[in-house]
Amino acid sequence: MNEPSGLHFTEPLPEGVADLRPWFIAIHDLPDEIHWGEFWGNDQPVQLDVGCGRGLFLFNASLRNPETNYLGLELEFREGRRTAKRLLKREAVNARVVGGDAALVLRKHIPPGTVDAVHVYFPDPWWRKKHRRRRIFTDTFVGLCSRVLKPGGRLHSWTDVPDYFDIIKALMDHHDDFETLPPPDEREAEHDMDYQTSFERKKRKEGFPIFRGLWQKK
Ligand SMILES: C[S@@+](CC[C@H](N)C(=O)[O-])C[C@H]1O[C@@H](n2cnc3c(N)ncnc32)[C@H](O)[C@@H]1O
Repeated sequence: MNEPSGLHFTEPLPEGVADLRPWFIAIHDLPDEIHWGEFWGNDQPVQLDVGCGRGLFLFNASLRNPETNYLGLELEFREGRRTAKRLLKREAVNARVVGGDAALVLRKHIPPGTVDAVHVYFPDPWWRKKHRRRRIFTDTFVGLCSRVLKPGGRLHSWTDVPDYFDIIKALMDHHDDFETLPPPDEREAEHDMDYQTSFERKKRKEGFPIFRGLWQKK
Protein backbone atom coordinates (compact mmCIF):
# COMPACT_ATOMS: atom_id res chain seq x y z
CA MET A 1 0.00 0.00 0.00
CA ASN A 2 1.35 3.40 -0.93
CA GLU A 3 1.59 5.97 1.82
CA PRO A 4 -0.70 8.93 1.22
CA SER A 5 1.62 11.86 0.62
CA GLY A 6 0.11 13.99 3.41
CA LEU A 7 1.27 11.65 6.16
CA HIS A 8 4.67 11.53 7.78
CA PHE A 9 5.27 7.97 8.88
CA THR A 10 8.15 8.69 11.16
CA GLU A 11 7.71 6.52 14.25
CA PRO A 12 8.84 2.91 13.98
CA LEU A 13 6.09 0.48 15.01
CA PRO A 14 6.81 -1.59 18.13
CA GLU A 15 7.80 -5.17 17.35
CA GLY A 16 4.84 -7.46 16.69
CA VAL A 17 2.42 -4.61 15.99
CA ALA A 18 0.89 -4.88 12.54
CA ASP A 19 1.13 -1.86 10.27
CA LEU A 20 -2.47 -0.81 9.76
CA ARG A 21 -1.68 2.49 8.11
CA PRO A 22 -3.47 4.31 6.64
CA TRP A 23 -6.50 2.83 8.45
CA PHE A 24 -4.89 3.41 11.84
CA ILE A 25 -2.57 6.37 12.21
CA ALA A 26 -1.04 7.39 15.53
CA ILE A 27 -1.31 11.08 16.39
CA HIS A 28 2.51 11.40 16.34
CA ASP A 29 2.48 10.33 12.70
CA LEU A 30 0.14 13.13 11.64
CA PRO A 31 1.52 16.18 9.86
CA ASP A 32 1.33 19.40 11.92
CA GLU A 33 -1.73 20.43 9.94
CA ILE A 34 -3.62 17.81 7.97
CA HIS A 35 -4.29 18.67 4.35
CA TRP A 36 -7.53 16.77 3.78
CA GLY A 37 -7.06 16.43 0.01
CA GLU A 38 -3.71 14.73 0.56
CA PHE A 39 -4.91 12.72 3.55
CA TRP A 40 -7.81 11.10 1.70
CA GLY A 41 -6.69 11.51 -1.88
CA ASN A 42 -9.92 13.36 -2.67
CA ASP A 43 -11.87 16.46 -1.63
CA GLN A 44 -14.94 14.77 -0.18
CA PRO A 45 -16.52 16.30 2.94
CA VAL A 46 -15.08 15.14 6.26
CA GLN A 47 -16.90 14.09 9.44
CA LEU A 48 -15.25 13.23 12.76
CA ASP A 49 -16.26 10.59 15.30
CA VAL A 50 -14.76 11.60 18.67
CA GLY A 51 -14.10 8.52 20.84
CA CYS A 52 -15.10 6.13 18.05
CA GLY A 53 -14.58 3.04 20.24
CA ARG A 54 -15.48 -0.13 18.33
CA GLY A 55 -16.33 1.88 15.25
CA LEU A 56 -19.90 0.79 14.47
CA PHE A 57 -20.80 4.36 13.50
CA LEU A 58 -17.73 4.69 11.24
CA PHE A 59 -18.44 1.33 9.66
CA ASN A 60 -22.13 1.92 8.91
CA ALA A 61 -21.87 5.60 8.00
CA SER A 62 -18.94 5.11 5.61
CA LEU A 63 -20.78 2.29 3.81
CA ARG A 64 -24.01 4.28 3.61
CA ASN A 65 -22.33 7.50 2.43
CA PRO A 66 -19.38 6.68 0.15
CA GLU A 67 -19.08 10.34 -0.81
CA THR A 68 -18.20 11.43 2.72
CA ASN A 69 -14.94 10.70 4.55
CA TYR A 70 -15.17 9.59 8.20
CA LEU A 71 -12.30 9.96 10.65
CA GLY A 72 -12.53 8.29 14.06
CA LEU A 73 -10.48 9.73 16.92
CA GLU A 74 -9.75 7.22 19.66
CA LEU A 75 -7.58 7.57 22.75
CA GLU A 76 -7.19 3.82 23.30
CA PHE A 77 -4.83 2.57 20.64
CA ARG A 78 -5.92 -1.08 21.06
CA GLU A 79 -9.55 -0.18 20.48
CA GLY A 80 -8.67 2.11 17.58
CA ARG A 81 -6.52 -0.57 15.96
CA ARG A 82 -9.28 -3.15 16.32
CA THR A 83 -11.67 -0.78 14.56
CA ALA A 84 -9.08 -0.05 11.88
CA LYS A 85 -8.68 -3.81 11.23
CA ARG A 86 -12.38 -4.05 10.43
CA LEU A 87 -12.11 -1.09 8.06
CA LEU A 88 -9.03 -2.62 6.40
CA LYS A 89 -10.85 -5.96 5.97
CA ARG A 90 -13.61 -4.13 4.12
CA GLU A 91 -10.98 -2.05 2.29
CA ALA A 92 -12.99 1.03 3.22
CA VAL A 93 -11.55 3.98 1.37
CA ASN A 94 -13.53 6.63 3.25
CA ALA A 95 -13.00 5.68 6.90
CA ARG A 96 -9.90 5.78 9.11
CA VAL A 97 -8.91 6.05 12.75
CA VAL A 98 -6.38 8.34 14.42
CA GLY A 99 -5.06 7.09 17.75
CA GLY A 100 -4.67 9.89 20.29
CA ASP A 101 -6.43 12.53 22.34
CA ALA A 102 -9.26 13.95 20.24
CA ALA A 103 -8.92 17.39 21.86
CA LEU A 104 -5.29 17.58 20.76
CA VAL A 105 -6.12 16.42 17.24
CA LEU A 106 -8.84 19.10 17.01
CA ARG A 107 -6.61 21.83 18.43
CA LYS A 108 -3.41 21.07 16.60
CA HIS A 109 -3.91 18.99 13.49
CA ILE A 110 -7.26 19.85 11.96
CA PRO A 111 -7.42 22.99 9.85
CA PRO A 112 -10.08 25.47 11.00
CA GLY A 113 -13.46 25.53 9.27
CA THR A 114 -12.93 22.32 7.28
CA VAL A 115 -15.19 19.74 8.91
CA ASP A 116 -18.85 19.02 8.03
CA ALA A 117 -19.85 17.26 11.25
CA VAL A 118 -18.50 16.20 14.64
CA HIS A 119 -20.12 13.17 16.28
CA VAL A 120 -19.62 12.53 20.00
CA TYR A 121 -21.49 9.39 21.01
CA PHE A 122 -21.57 8.15 24.59
CA PRO A 123 -18.54 10.08 25.88
CA ASP A 124 -17.05 8.49 28.99
CA PRO A 125 -19.16 9.69 31.95
CA TRP A 126 -16.41 9.39 34.59
CA TRP A 127 -18.94 8.53 37.27
CA ARG A 128 -16.82 9.31 40.34
CA LYS A 129 -17.07 12.93 41.36
CA LYS A 130 -13.32 13.38 41.67
CA HIS A 131 -12.87 12.15 38.08
CA ARG A 132 -15.57 14.35 36.51
CA ARG A 133 -13.07 16.86 35.24
CA ARG A 134 -11.77 14.17 32.87
CA ARG A 135 -15.01 14.41 30.87
CA ILE A 136 -14.26 15.49 27.32
CA PHE A 137 -17.32 17.70 26.82
CA THR A 138 -16.28 21.07 28.30
CA ASP A 139 -16.48 24.67 27.09
CA THR A 140 -12.93 24.27 25.75
CA PHE A 141 -13.98 21.21 23.77
CA VAL A 142 -17.03 23.04 22.36
CA GLY A 143 -14.68 25.85 21.31
CA LEU A 144 -12.46 23.33 19.51
CA CYS A 145 -15.48 21.84 17.71
CA SER A 146 -16.55 25.33 16.70
CA ARG A 147 -13.03 25.97 15.42
CA VAL A 148 -12.94 22.97 13.07
CA LEU A 149 -16.55 23.02 11.86
CA LYS A 150 -17.60 24.84 8.71
CA PRO A 151 -20.46 27.31 9.00
CA GLY A 152 -23.59 25.12 8.81
CA GLY A 153 -21.60 22.11 10.10
CA ARG A 154 -23.26 19.94 12.73
CA LEU A 155 -22.40 18.59 16.13
CA HIS A 156 -24.20 15.41 17.18
CA SER A 157 -23.98 14.10 20.71
CA TRP A 158 -25.86 11.25 22.37
CA THR A 159 -25.55 9.79 25.84
CA ASP A 160 -27.48 7.69 28.34
CA VAL A 161 -26.22 9.77 31.28
CA PRO A 162 -28.87 12.40 32.21
CA ASP A 163 -26.63 14.78 34.16
CA TYR A 164 -23.93 14.69 31.47
CA PHE A 165 -26.57 15.45 28.84
CA ASP A 166 -27.75 18.43 30.92
CA ILE A 167 -24.18 19.74 30.89
CA ILE A 168 -23.77 19.17 27.14
CA LYS A 169 -27.10 20.90 26.45
CA ALA A 170 -26.24 23.83 28.70
CA LEU A 171 -22.88 24.29 26.95
CA MET A 172 -24.32 23.97 23.46
CA ASP A 173 -27.73 25.66 23.75
CA HIS A 174 -26.19 28.84 25.14
CA HIS A 175 -23.13 28.96 22.92
CA ASP A 176 -22.93 31.97 20.60
CA ASP A 177 -21.51 29.88 17.75
CA PHE A 178 -24.28 27.25 17.66
CA GLU A 179 -28.01 26.97 17.21
CA THR A 180 -30.04 24.05 18.52
CA LEU A 181 -31.77 21.79 16.02
CA PRO A 182 -34.48 19.18 16.69
CA PRO A 183 -32.76 15.89 17.55
CA PRO A 184 -33.52 12.69 15.63
CA ASP A 185 -36.23 10.36 16.96
CA GLU A 186 -35.40 6.91 18.23
CA ARG A 187 -35.62 4.37 15.44
CA GLU A 188 -36.45 0.68 15.78
CA ALA A 189 -33.30 -1.37 15.03
CA GLU A 190 -33.85 -3.88 12.23
CA HIS A 191 -30.87 -6.05 13.21
CA ASP A 192 -28.00 -6.10 15.68
CA MET A 193 -25.74 -3.82 13.67
CA ASP A 194 -28.53 -1.30 13.09
CA TYR A 195 -27.62 1.05 15.93
CA GLN A 196 -25.76 4.35 15.85
CA THR A 197 -22.93 2.90 17.95
CA SER A 198 -22.20 -0.21 20.02
CA PHE A 199 -22.81 1.78 23.20
CA GLU A 200 -26.24 2.79 21.94
CA ARG A 201 -27.01 -0.89 21.30
CA LYS A 202 -25.80 -1.91 24.76
CA LYS A 203 -27.66 0.83 26.61
CA ARG A 204 -30.91 0.40 24.68
CA LYS A 205 -30.83 -3.34 25.27
CA GLU A 206 -30.36 -2.65 28.97
CA GLY A 207 -33.46 -0.44 28.83
CA PHE A 208 -31.81 2.96 29.39
CA PRO A 209 -33.34 6.04 27.75
CA ILE A 210 -31.00 7.72 25.27
CA PHE A 211 -30.62 11.51 25.15
CA ARG A 212 -29.89 12.87 21.70
CA GLY A 213 -28.66 16.34 20.81
CA LEU A 214 -28.04 18.12 17.52
CA TRP A 215 -26.57 21.58 16.98
CA GLN A 216 -25.51 23.61 13.97
CA LYS A 217 -22.57 25.97 13.64
CA LYS A 218 -23.84 29.44 12.74
C1 LIG B 1 -18.03 5.00 26.33
S1 LIG B 1 -17.02 4.79 24.94
C2 LIG B 1 -18.12 5.10 23.57
C3 LIG B 1 -17.57 4.57 22.29
C4 LIG B 1 -18.45 4.84 21.05
N1 LIG B 1 -18.57 6.26 20.77
C5 LIG B 1 -19.82 4.25 21.22
O1 LIG B 1 -20.79 5.01 21.37
O2 LIG B 1 -19.91 3.01 21.19
C6 LIG B 1 -16.04 6.27 24.97
C7 LIG B 1 -14.83 6.17 24.05
O3 LIG B 1 -14.18 7.44 24.02
C8 LIG B 1 -12.78 7.23 24.06
N2 LIG B 1 -12.16 8.47 24.58
C9 LIG B 1 -12.20 8.95 25.83
N3 LIG B 1 -11.53 10.13 25.93
C10 LIG B 1 -11.06 10.38 24.69
C11 LIG B 1 -10.27 11.42 24.12
N4 LIG B 1 -9.83 12.45 24.87
N5 LIG B 1 -9.96 11.34 22.81
C12 LIG B 1 -10.37 10.31 22.05
N6 LIG B 1 -11.12 9.29 22.53
C13 LIG B 1 -11.46 9.33 23.82
C14 LIG B 1 -12.62 6.05 24.98
O4 LIG B 1 -11.38 5.41 24.84
C15 LIG B 1 -13.80 5.18 24.52
O5 LIG B 1 -13.44 4.34 23.44
